[in-house]
This record gives sequence, structure tokens and C-alpha cells, in this order.
Amino acid sequence: MLRDDLGLFGTKRCCAEGECGSCSVLLDGELVNSCLVLGAEADGGSLNTIEGLSMDGVTDLQAAFLTAGAVQCGVCIPGQVMAAEQLLRTNPDASREEIRDVMSGNLCRCASYQRIVEAIQVAAAGRRTDA
Ligand code: FES
Ligand code: FES
Repeated sequence: MLRDDLGLFGTKRCCAEGECGSCSVLLDGELVNSCLVLGAEADGGSLNTIEGLSMDGVTDLQAAFLTAGAVQCGVCIPGQVMAAEQLLRTNPDASREEIRDVMSGNLCRCASYQRIVEAIQVAAAGRRTDA
């Protein structure tokens, strides 16, 4: 529905079984695999996709992904960014291990895991400085 009906192509559909995290979005502030949520279930809810997150341009988190070289083919990146954004909002001081643990639900076929964790740490540090 997000892609076909709403034209929100940033959200990717890969496994369609809740296994890869590439379809991650925020629904009522919670990170969900959108491939497992019926449109009717989201009716009346607050939905945030990668398009909504970056409505004002590239975010600090997205910039950190780019700078860290975490973006390879890019397929997993919208989901990674949504998961990372939720992590930074709920646990801005997350340790490296906590980041790895939370992000373990988002698979990357290009194996950018190390750089993704680095990017999240950089974005977290930047937000602490700005706070
Ligand atoms: S496409 Fe939804 S978890 Fe993989
Ligand atoms: S950057 Fe290619 S799958 Fe993650």
C-alpha cells in the first residue's frame, strides 16, 4: 500500500515476512515492519516513513550514514535509518552493543553493519552536542 497506492517508494519490500527490516516505518511512534501491518490496522494512526523523516532535507542521521560510507547498494538504508532514528529517540546514549542489538533486526546484504553502527554513534554524539 505504501509503495503501490501512496507512491512512497522509500520503504522497501524485500522479504515480506518480517525478517529483514527493510520495510521499517514508525507507526504511532513504534518501529514496525510495515510488511506485517495491514493498511486497515494503521487506519487513524500516525505513520512516519523515510519520506516524512527527511521532509526538510537530509537529516543528521542520514548525513552520518553517507559520511561513514554505510550506504552501499542502498536497499536496506531507509529501514536502517528508521530503526536508527527510533533508537536515538528512545535511547540517545545507547552503547555500541545496544546499537548492535537493536539494529540486528535490520539486515544488510552489503554487510555495512560496522559502518552503520559508526554512523549511528556519530549522529548520537552530534545530537548530544546540539542539546
Ligand atoms: S520486507 Fe518487511 S521485514 Fe522484510
Ligand atoms: S547497503 Fe546494500 S543491503 Fe544494505
